[in-house]
Amino acid sequence: MTILVTGAAGFIGYHTSLALLERGERVIGVDDLNDYYDVSLKEARLKNLEGEGGFTFHKLDIADRDAMEALIRQHGDVTRVIHLAAQAGVRYSLVNPYAYIRTNLEGYLVVLEACRRLERLEHVVYASSSSVYGANDKLPYSTADRVDRPLSLYAATKKSMEMISHAYESLFGMPLTGLRFFTVYGPWGRPDMAAFIFTRKILAGEPIEVFNDGDMRRDFTYIDDIVAGVLGCLDRPPEAGRAPGRLYNIGNNISEPLMRFISILEEALGRKAEIKFQPMQAGDVKETCADIDDTRRDFGFEPKTTIDEGLPLFVRWYKEYHS
Ligand SMILES: NC(=O)c1ccc[n+]([C@@H]2O[C@H](COP(=O)([O-])OP(=O)(O)OC[C@H]3O[C@@H](n4cnc5c(N)ncnc54)[C@H](O)[C@@H]3O)[C@@H](O)[C@H]2O)c1
Repeated sequence: MTILVTGAAGFIGYHTSLALLERGERVIGVDDLNDYYDVSLKEARLKNLEGEGGFTFHKLDIADRDAMEALIRQHGDVTRVIHLAAQAGVRYSLVNPYAYIRTNLEGYLVVLEACRRLERLEHVVYASSSSVYGANDKLPYSTADRVDRPLSLYAATKKSMEMISHAYESLFGMPLTGLRFFTVYGPWGRPDMAAFIFTRKILAGEPIEVFNDGDMRRDFTYIDDIVAGVLGCLDRPPEAGRAPGRLYNIGNNISEPLMRFISILEEALGRKAEIKFQPMQAGDVKETCADIDDTRRDFGFEPKTTIDEGLPLFVRWYKEYHS
């Protein structure tokens, strides 16, 4: 099978591509290698992927229509698509809002239009986010909950992607499934996320900033569980004639206190963190937790890794990578 993975040099794209290659698929990876965070980390992930047979990489911007059309002409045998390229991060959407519209909306539209030209298209799985739940305060978050109150532009673009998908499914019968990921962490993770930032600062002896005075809870999901969820979904394309708007949560189904997350990190690092408590940040939510009953039922999804197991694995990778 030939599978197109957008955002292949990113954190989740890298692990997903690797898992696909390991099970013998052909992967066409796309990424613009932008400098939102350290490009050398994206290049190092790519180097590992290029060491595997079956991987072809194209450096391109998904919002570039000509480039995407040329790609689809060249790889007309693609049957499944995993769309992960995005401008991610809640906080950066306050700094550079245009990047979110360009990649998450224009880029997604270009990807959908390109996919429409694939004659043998079976399934497009695209990344949404737990951030779409925004001001929803009913826990755990269910895909049946109301999600029209985003608290950040990032969340608004992810919710918009879900609506655009609904329209494209209704108009063209496209086989689309959206996955709402909950705070993903693990080896080769993103430098703008808590596990990475805290680890870097604790090791450097710098204070870490902890928002809402530490009174936050997150459903942290280990990367291997995310990949299992993505592949489980990819392998089960929607049935013809079903109602549009297929969406699932991919989370751990445990809402962990942030301070517990920090103490596990401290233990794995063998160092105490110097904590600077800060008020709640704009765009942030206090607590997340995924209702994964549907994901369990339809894909046999079962998260396996707690933060007690996953954070030490992240720390081990971090130390090896930076040594
Ligand atoms: N990591 C998480 O906790 C999390 C949570 C919820 C949702 N998500 C979503 O999952 C997906 C993957 O996230 P990630 O954590 O791997 O992020 P990431 O930033 O590591 O990966 C995204 C990749 O997309 C690439 N990209 C960005 N704009 C592009 C463009 N215009 N053209 C081509 N490539 C482009 C980037 O270079 C990057 O390598 C994203 O859609 C993100 O919104 C992630």
